[in-house]
Amino acid sequence: MSKVLRFEITDKCNLNCEMCWSTNWKHEDMEMNTIKKIIEDFSRHEKNGIVVLTSREPLLSKNFESTLDLCTKLGLDIKILTNGTLLNDHFCNIITSYNVSFVGISLHGNREKHDSIVNVKGAFQKTIDGIKKLNFYKQKNSKENLEIRITSVISKDLINSVDEIVNIASMLNVDIRLQHIMWHSEETKIKNKFVLKQEFNYDDNIIDGFPSKCPIDVAEIKELIRIFKYKAKEKNVDLQIYPNLTDAELCEWYADKSDVNIQNQKKFCDHCSTSIRLRANGKVSLCQYIDKEIGDLKVSNLDEVIYNNIEYKNICNKLENGELYPICYRCCHCRNDLLVENKKNYKI
Ligand SMILES: C[S@@+](CC[C@H](N)C(=O)[O-])C[C@H]1O[C@@H](n2cnc3c(N)ncnc32)[C@H](O)[C@@H]1O
Ligand code: SF4
Ligand code: SF4
Repeated sequence: MSKVLRFEITDKCNLNCEMCWSTNWKHEDMEMNTIKKIIEDFSRHEKNGIVVLTSREPLLSKNFESTLDLCTKLGLDIKILTNGTLLNDHFCNIITSYNVSFVGISLHGNREKHDSIVNVKGAFQKTIDGIKKLNFYKQKNSKENLEIRITSVISKDLINSVDEIVNIASMLNVDIRLQHIMWHSEETKIKNKFVLKQEFNYDDNIIDGFPSKCPIDVAEIKELIRIFKYKAKEKNVDLQIYPNLTDAELCEWYADKSDVNIQNQKKFCDHCSTSIRLRANGKVSLCQYIDKEIGDLKVSNLDEVIYNNIEYKNICNKLENGELYPICYRCCHCRNDLLVENKKNYKI
């Protein structure tokens, strides 16, 4: 299976979402000569590979268009995750002119709720305008196969926004992905830091960016999913729930107990063996949530950092065999091999 390059071409962001783990960034763009070197190297290894532009806000990179252009020339498939606030005519036109197959746009509630979650007044309206505009350019530039999906992270108040979000999706002819919120108790945070320090001598602070309290209780989340499914069906909107948890898993994910022993779960992670997580400073991390450095693509190449790196392969093998870290328990990439549905690989 070919690998996905999860590429942070910038670590700038114009919002400050309350649930986002993205803290401590340097606010830098990766330079185009480095992007070019890495993307060309990647395309040599992965013919028809996938590049996901994500984390933090890719549209803020001065090299956004040049990156789309380069990936398109090399035949790579591009997927973009954005908060949608910057989707003006220029960006919508270029996104629909290059090889982009998917755009996920974050919307976490109605006007009041969304603005309060992202901590920027007026963000809701900008995102709605952005979705409309992108859809307009999708038609104008005949990009019928471009998938546009509203991505909503689960929160307690989302229940009051279901109607509005589904109506917006239906009106604008886009789909929805509902994302379970990754949160971690203080106990898990401490344990995770301890385990990563022991194993890699790595001082983790990424986990501190996640909420520490269970944001919604089990009865509410079940009701939220029931209403979302009902409304989406009624309005003919496709709804993905990510990850697609069983009832039992749902109860555990949203149980407000202080800790869960991941080693007792029949779960595994193949995300690290199928993805390369590249930071704006050129460093490759184990994954988005464990910033242990695997190598530096500014000074080395993908053969050294990924393809011939025995230490990295050993970590990936352990994860594939279910030897996970405390943070993995509530990670959207952690999967249960007993569930066929969870085997669906969304690749974004
Ligand atoms: C880090 S963002 C990067 C892309 C872009 N800035 C955005 O907000 O869409 C990637 C995705 O993670 C989601 N996200 C942020 N915090 C989360 C959390 N604690 N649990 C689950 N998803 C989260 C965002 O809503 C977004 O869909
Ligand atoms: S979720 Fe996206 S938009 Fe929100 S702060 Fe994080 S990176 Fe920025
Ligand atoms: S399951 Fe664990 S190792 Fe895999 S992506 Fe999630 S946090 Fe990283």
